[in-house]
Amino acid sequence: MSAPHHIPAAEAIIACEGLSKHFGGIRAFTDVAFQARRGEVTAVIGDNGAGKSTLIRSLVGVHQPDTGNLFFDGRARPFANPDEARKAGIETVHQNLALIDELTVAQNLFLNREIVRRIGPFAFLDRKAMKREARSMLSRLSINVPSINQRVRRLSGGQRQAISICRAVGSGAKLVVMDEPTAALGVQETANVEALIRRLREQSVSVILVSHNFDQVRRLSDQIWVMRAGKMAATVRASETSGNELVALVTGAA
Ligand SMILES: Nc1ncnc2c1ncn2[C@@H]1O[C@H](COP(=O)(O)OP(=O)(O)O)[C@@H](O)[C@H]1O
Ligand SMILES: [Mg+2]
Repeated sequence: MSAPHHIPAAEAIIACEGLSKHFGGIRAFTDVAFQARRGEVTAVIGDNGAGKSTLIRSLVGVHQPDTGNLFFDGRARPFANPDEARKAGIETVHQNLALIDELTVAQNLFLNREIVRRIGPFAFLDRKAMKREARSMLSRLSINVPSINQRVRRLSGGQRQAISICRAVGSGAKLVVMDEPTAALGVQETANVEALIRRLREQSVSVILVSHNFDQVRRLSDQIWVMRAGKMAATVRASETSGNELVALVTGAA
C-alpha cells in the first residue's frame, strides 16, 4: 500500500492536510491529507460512509472542517461558504442535483449568475445574451438537448446531469468537483457523462471525481485516492493499479 504522497505545491490545484470533520459524536473523517494535480482527473473512492462526500463538501465551503489546512491555487483558502469557493474557481456537482424543474435549460445554466445589461440607472436581464451563451456552453461540451427553451423537468437523467456539469464548467472554473455523477444513470447516459469528463480534461480543467465504480475511475482518472472509515488510506496512479488492488485497498484487505 502506498502512503499518501506529496507533490510540489505548484503542481497542486487543491491540497489539504490534517483535515478533520465531526458531526457531534460521529467522525466523518480524521486527519486527511489530499492533493489534486492541475489538469488531471483525481478520483476519490471508498465504501458507503467512508467520508467521501463530507470531505468534498469540506473542500468546497459547504462544511467547515474542524481542523486542518486547505490550499487552493497556491493560496491558503478556507472557504466560508460555497459562494466563496465558486468565486475562487471551484464548481461542484453535488450528489443531489440542484436543477430547478420548472425553469428552462438556459435559465438553469444562468441561475444565480444572470447576465445583466445596464442602460443608465436601469439594469435589464439580457435574455438574448444568455441564450446565445447557453448554446455555446452546450456545444463546447457537445451536449445535445432538444432545445435550450425546454423545461428541465422533461429531460432524461443523463441530460440533467449534463446540464449540471455544463453549468459547473460554464463559468470558466479551474476545478470541477463531481460527487457520484453517474450513480443514478443508465449505460448510455453514463457513457455521455464520461465523455464529458474526458473533454474537460482535454480543456485542461482539473476534475475531482467521487465514484465507487472502480472500472470507471481506472478509465477516467490519473490519480486515485482511497478513503476507508474516515481515513485517507492510500493513493495510486490509475495506470499502475488493477481492479483487484482497488478492491483490496477499499476493503482494507491489502
Ligand atoms: N450532516 C451530517 N450529519 C451527521 N452525520 C453525517 C452528516 N453527513 C455525513 N455524516 C456521516 O459521516 C460519515 C461519512 O459520510 P459520507 O461523507 O456521506 O460518506 P460517503 O460519501 O463516502 O458515502 C457517515 O457516517 C455519515 O453518516
Ligand atoms: Mg457520498
